[in-house]
Amino acid sequence: MSAVLSNNAGFVAWRSLQQERVEQALSAWVSADAPAGLGEAMRYAVLDGGKRLRPLLALAACEAVQGDAAAAMRAACAVELIHAYSLVHDDMPCMDNDVLRRGKPTVHVQFGEAQALLAGDALQALAFELLVPDDGSMAGTLSARLCRQLAQAAGAAGMAGGQAVDLASVGIALDRPALEAMHRLKTGALLQASVMMGVSTATVDAAVQAHLSAYGACLGLAFQVVDDILDVTTDSATLGKTAGKDAASDKPTFVSLMGLAQAQAYADQVLDQAHGALTASGLAHTDTLHALADWVGRRVS
Ligand code: IPE
Ligand code: IPE
Ligand code: MG
Ligand code: MG
Ligand code: MG
Repeated sequence: MSAVLSNNAGFVAWRSLQQERVEQALSAWVSADAPAGLGEAMRYAVLDGGKRLRPLLALAACEAVQGDAAAAMRAACAVELIHAYSLVHDDMPCMDNDVLRRGKPTVHVQFGEAQALLAGDALQALAFELLVPDDGSMAGTLSARLCRQLAQAAGAAGMAGGQAVDLASVGIALDRPALEAMHRLKTGALLQASVMMGVSTATVDAAVQAHLSAYGACLGLAFQVVDDILDVTTDSATLGKTAGKDAASDKPTFVSLMGLAQAQAYADQVLDQAHGALTASGLAHTDTLHALADWVGRRVS
């Protein structure tokens, strides 16, 4: 374990530094210049908010495999753009109909539904543009690999597919395998891809890749279980989004399935598996990834 990250203060300092770097990179890449106010809506959706967990996972995974840091920053920002777009659409009246996100009015409340739809569309396209720089700074094979990883995690076999299941499940008491499958798609896939895109910035043995992939899958599932828990236990001001929405919308969640205490125990158990997979990777520089898994388990927003 490196000296700087062997304690929580070291991790908190690392996290703040990387969050600031990601903020600056996103601000540079998401231009205000898009026509007819679209740029303003895009920047509103992306900047100045959010934990930036997905970028942090990509950067920490890159550190773990000693990969290409510049490519990892592009990957980190690309996943965050997909995530921000998914939130804009998730909040729209046709989906969860939420008015508060990251402590601010949601994008459709602030700019109207059509502009929110377009801001999401444009953020998604920009994510892939970031992965294909035109300055020769990334090998074509790496660009293609990152695009494929992100597309798979964002699309029908990932986030969008999971969101479809989520909407189709209103009022339905899913059993645990079905709920787990939904969570792995709608949230887990993008978190796992964040890790694996960071890993892709280096050449890594297939067995090590498999362990890191298992880490990402476990962390991704646990993350959405904790999101279900926080929806019940935490107030809107702390969350920066409307609390109690899942029960009010009759969404099946781990809390509705098994109650609060068991849902927390389940999240802890899955996070233990994430730590185990990291240890099994045998990599030397995994302390930040361990710390990120701990953070997912004890976060308050
Ligand atoms: C919220 O994600 C949406 C889910 C996938 C549960 P985050 O909790 O990571 O949201 P931000 O990015 O910090 O706002
Ligand atoms: C959303 O899940 C997951 C996404 C793909 C955006 P939720 O609907 O539970 O996310 P929150 O609670 O609104 O952030
Ligand atoms: Mg939703
Ligand atoms: Mg929602
Ligand atoms: Mg939620």
